Amino acid sequence: MFFDIALYASFLIFLIGLIYKVSTWFRNEIGIGARGITISTRFSAAVKGILQTILSAKIFILIRVFVVDVLFQMRILKEDFLRWIMHMFIYGGFMLLLLMHALDKIITGPVFADYASTLNPFMFLRDLFGIMVITGLGIAVYRRFILKVPRLSTSSMDYYAIIILTVIMLSGIILEAVKITSYSRYLEMVEEYSDTEDEQELRALESFWVNEYGVVSPNIKELFDKELISEGKELNEMSCAACHSNPKWAFTGYAVSRIIKPCAPGLDSADFSQALLYIHFLACFFGLAYLPFSKMFHIIASPVSLLANAVMEKDESDTANIATRQAMELDACTHCGTCSLRCSVAVAFNKNGNINILPSEKIAFLKSYVSKKEIDAEGLKAIKEGIYFCSNCDRCTVVCPVGINLRDLWFSVREEMLEKGDSLPLVLTPFSYYRGLNRESLDSNRYLKPLDDARDAIAAKCELINKPDKVVPLTPVNKGFKDEITHSVQAGTYSFCFSCENCTTVCPVVENYENPQDALDLLPHQIMRSVGLGLRDLALGSKMLWNCLTCYQCQEHCPQGVKVTDILYELKNQAVKENQIRQKISIRD
Ligand code: HEC
Ligand code: SF4
Ligand code: SF4
Ligand code: SF4
Ligand code: SF4
Repeated sequence: MFFDIALYASFLIFLIGLIYKVSTWFRNEIGIGARGITISTRFSAAVKGILQTILSAKIFILIRVFVVDVLFQMRILKEDFLRWIMHMFIYGGFMLLLLMHALDKIITGPVFADYASTLNPFMFLRDLFGIMVITGLGIAVYRRFILKVPRLSTSSMDYYAIIILTVIMLSGIILEAVKITSYSRYLEMVEEYSDTEDEQELRALESFWVNEYGVVSPNIKELFDKELISEGKELNEMSCAACHSNPKWAFTGYAVSRIIKPCAPGLDSADFSQALLYIHFLACFFGLAYLPFSKMFHIIASPVSLLANAVMEKDESDTANIATRQAMELDACTHCGTCSLRCSVAVAFNKNGNINILPSEKIAFLKSYVSKKEIDAEGLKAIKEGIYFCSNCDRCTVVCPVGINLRDLWFSVREEMLEKGDSLPLVLTPFSYYRGLNRESLDSNRYLKPLDDARDAIAAKCELINKPDKVVPLTPVNKGFKDEITHSVQAGTYSFCFSCENCTTVCPVVENYENPQDALDLLPHQIMRSVGLGLRDLALGSKMLWNCLTCYQCQEHCPQGVKVTDILYELKNQAVKENQIRQKISIRD
């Protein structure tokens, strides 16, 4: 009775939570494109979109994605076999346990007429699915804490998911073990199902159950009287076998029952199985009730996100549906870290430790951002850096196993930050700047401020470097300069630079200084940008040129294929040449 009430209560809370969470998909806004669309417009657009998709040829895409990516998780398999095994075990095992074991009253019982939880194949399968989940959890713990997959951070939600599943599984298995050994349970059953009162027969049945079925009896210990056991076997066939397969088939529970055998009488008299039952059920109920608010919600949101992304196009889909999808994608993220592993600017995280640079953490931030949690100034700065440190390379989107369109999310959030005047005073290039925004949905006036800021930052640099003791005196922007340094094919690649800062991030010289800007005048990415702007003297005059070790790290890491080191090399040559000319002029004079 208590459990029934608790089950209904937790199911009710689950439903309310589910409705609440799904409603946030229609309420939360990310970016300017989502603004001003009413909830009802978004809801009706979603219904319309779903109906249109189901009634069109796109239904086949949905079916394929459901089988390939949702059921068999092919996207994970492509990335990492161990992770795939882990996920298939946890997800597959848990779903099967849920359907066969937890919902046996609703599903397994009605479907199979002779169902009993103590009968094969159900008993064996329950343990098989259970061991799948436990193996999967073991791999999860191994990956996170022993293998230490790079850039895979563990949040409190990750801990919660691992802990709640572990509690459910372990309590279930120990419960099964305690029940197998329980003498009082055995007596209850005999009372109920055996027809005999005969001392000898009861003794025979008990010996059989002790020897073959794992009951721990205070009366009968090691007993090898074959005849008595075979007599017991017959009685068992008559009274018990209809509902009982050999508990050895419940292999995990049985194995544990052998381990706890010495304390079995104590556990039995203390009614420990009752306590375990409470733990097991309450953990299940709590897990169910809290599911919509936990990481486990992804078991609902991720498939929806995969399916939605499979049939939606940025330019063709309704903006209302894109807004809804983006809000939903935040719930779909499993915090698996694949995107961060592949992110083209994540080297910056390795250097400066700002976790917001990693896409998996940016998503986590976005979640609290859209739910309007307060963020302090320090946090906001770190987040801004994360949002702008992105080369729009799209790798995160390509590898995300739940098909989240991360690139579009970054576009949306960048615009929103931009509108708030929250851009970083990087040496932005118009190239990177425009590439990182949805231009269609932005008023061009909004673009200007950050670009002005960037220009001012450069101008301030010019003044700083424009000192008489420099090797090359500064002149204003030189339009011909760009042509000057394109002697080699490599040097021309400067025009591909979009100021992602990767070259600076990986430069060992930059790393060597506490305040590299002061010591080196310009950082590698800023030199590339100066060349792009034709600021010849700014580029030629910076100390960075002469500090460069020609280590080629920057060039190796440039996602745009800019030959950074070669360009620096050319600039050095250029600067030397200039200096010689100037010296000659001064000697002649
Ligand atoms: C009508 C079906 C049925 C019959 C007949 C039956 N049992 Fe059971 N028995 C069960 C079920 C169902 C459970 C599990 C109850 C639970 O999950 O708490 C169980 C549990 C037990 C347990 C505890 C171990 C466990 O796996 O949960 C013992 C011991 C046991 N039965 C012994 C017997 C004996 C001995 C007989 C024959 C005299 C017998 N049972 C006859 C259905 C039956
Ligand atoms: S965005 Fe995708 S790849 Fe990145 S952590 Fe989330 S689920 Fe994993
Ligand atoms: S698009 Fe940005 S966040 Fe995504 S992988 Fe590329 S650099 Fe990283
Ligand atoms: S040169 Fe390459 S690595 Fe450096 S800022 Fe430009 S694009 Fe990025
Ligand atoms: S080649 Fe020069 S600029 Fe590039 S990483 Fe090495 S030291 Fe830094």
